[in-house]
Amino acid sequence: MSERVLIVDFGSQVTQLIARRVREAGVYSEVHPFNRVDGAFVADFAPIAVILSGGPASVASSSAPSAHPALFEAGAPVLGICYGQQVMAAQMGAHVRPADHREFGRATVEAVADCALFEGVWEPGGRYPVWMSHGDRVETLPEGFRVAARSDAAPYAAIADESRGLYGVQFHPEVVHTPDGAGLIRNFVRRIAGAKGGWSMAAFRETAVAQIRAEVGGGRVVCGLSGGVDSTVAALLLHEAVGDRLHCIFVDTGLMRANEAEEVVGLFRSHFNIPLAHADAGPLFLERLAGVEDPESKRKIIGAAFVELFEAEAAKLGGADFLAQGTLYPDVIESVAFDGGPSVTIKSHHNVGGLPERMGLGLVEPLRMLFKDEVRALGQELGLPDRFVGRHPFPGPGLAIRMPGAVEPDKLEALRRADAIFLEEIRRAGLYDDIWQAFAVLLPVRTVGVMGDDRTYEQACALRAVTSADGMTADFYPFDAVFLGRVAVRIVNEVPGINRVVYDVTSKPPGTIEWE
Ligand code: XMP
Repeated sequence: MSERVLIVDFGSQVTQLIARRVREAGVYSEVHPFNRVDGAFVADFAPIAVILSGGPASVASSSAPSAHPALFEAGAPVLGICYGQQVMAAQMGAHVRPADHREFGRATVEAVADCALFEGVWEPGGRYPVWMSHGDRVETLPEGFRVAARSDAAPYAAIADESRGLYGVQFHPEVVHTPDGAGLIRNFVRRIAGAKGGWSMAAFRETAVAQIRAEVGGGRVVCGLSGGVDSTVAALLLHEAVGDRLHCIFVDTGLMRANEAEEVVGLFRSHFNIPLAHADAGPLFLERLAGVEDPESKRKIIGAAFVELFEAEAAKLGGADFLAQGTLYPDVIESVAFDGGPSVTIKSHHNVGGLPERMGLGLVEPLRMLFKDEVRALGQELGLPDRFVGRHPFPGPGLAIRMPGAVEPDKLEALRRADAIFLEEIRRAGLYDDIWQAFAVLLPVRTVGVMGDDRTYEQACALRAVTSADGMTADFYPFDAVFLGRVAVRIVNEVPGINRVVYDVTSKPPGTIEWE
C-alpha cells in the first residue's frame, strides 16, 4: 500500500468515521492511538498525510495528550480536527482556552478566504452548516497560520498554514451532520496531500490475496462458516488465495433460521464449488440444551459444543495450521482511554473464542483492516449474491437465545415460522436494508385468545427490529401500524402455537438487541 493516511486517535467517539471518509476518497487509512505514535512509528508508516482526531481532553490540562513532533516533520500535510486542531495550534505556540460559549451540535461557519481544503466545496463569503462539539477553542493564531473560516463561537473554525501543509478545523468534517465534510476530507487527501486514490475493493482483493499467500505459505487453513457475511467473505478470499488448502467447516447447530443451513451449504458447494464439511448437529445441541433455561448456561453449552464439533471436523480433515476468522477493523482498533484505567485497551474479538490457542493454530484474519460496509463491497467484488451481501447479523447461539426458557423442537419450529413471516413481510415492504436486525422472539407466556368459536391458550411472540450503526447502540424501527397488523395477522393465522404478537419498542441501552 503506497498511499497511506495515518489517523492519530486522541479518543474521539467518531475517530473511525475519519478513517471511513478517507477510504471513501479512495485512499487507505489506519487509526493508531496517539501514545503509540513516535518517530520510529511515523518513519515506518510513511504517511502521505496525517489527521489528528478530536478527543475529550482539554489542551489546558497538564495531562493533555500531545501530538509527537515527528508527525509535523514527516513531510506530510497534517489536518487537525477539533482537539487535533487545538493540540497542533498549542504546540505551535497558540493560546487555547475554554470558550465562553461551548458549542455542541449544529453550527454555521462562514468561509472567509480561499483555502485548498475548500476547493470546489465552499466559496469565500458562503455560510455552511457544520457539526461542532468542543469546550476549548483556539484563541490566537499560531505563527504562519491564517484564518479560513469562522463561526460565532469559534473565530478560528478553520485555519491553514499552506507553506507548511498544516490545516486545522474546529468542527467535525467526518460526521454526516457536516454535509460537506466528506468533500473537505477528500480535498485534504487528494488535492493537498496529492494522493492519487484508487484504493478500492478490487485493489484490496489483490493485496490481501498476496498477503494471505505470504502468511500461510504451504499451510492448511480451516474456516468456520456461520452463514454471516463476515465469515463468508473471509472464506471466499482465502479460497482465492490458497485454493484447496482451505477447508470450510459449517457446524449446523439446528438453531438457525428457516432455510439458512441449506442456503449456506448451497452457496458454497453449488454456487462457488468450494468443498464444505457440514456437521449436521441439531439433535446433539437439542440434547445438551434439554431443560436448560438460564440464558448464560445456554450460551456456554452452545459455545462448548460448537468448539467440540469444530475440532472433530478439523481432525477428520487431517488437521490444519491456521484458523481463519472474519474479524473486522472496529474490533481491532485499539481504543484510547483517559479515565485512569490502562492507557490502551485492546478490544479483541474471537468469534470462536479460544479455539486457535486450544488447537495450536495460527490465526488468519484477512478482513481485520475493513469496516462492515467495505466487507460487503468486497463480497460483491468476489461475486457473493446480493442476498448474502446485505444479510442482517445473526448471533452464534441462534434461535436458542430468542426463546426465553428451555429450547424444544416444537418451539423452534414455531419461532422459525414466525421469524420467516416477519422477514418476508419486511423484504416485501422494501424495508430490509433500512433495518440492522429484525427477528421474532418466542415468549414463555401463554395467553388466551379466540379463533373462530374456539378459545385458544397459546404462546405469545414478540417482534424486534432495530436500526443501528454497529450493534453497540440501537433504536427500535418505527414500523407503521398497518404493517405490524399485517404481520401479526399472518403469524397468528399461519403459525400453530402462537396466538398473540407484540412489538418491542425498547432502545439499546437500556435494552439489548437480543432478549437473552
Ligand atoms: P446485544 O443483544 O448484546 O447484541 O445487544 C448486539 C449484537 O451482537 C449480536 N450477538 C451475538 N453475536 N454471538 C454472536 O456472534 C453471540 O453470542 C451474540 N450475542 C449477541 C446480536 O445479534 C447483535 O447484533
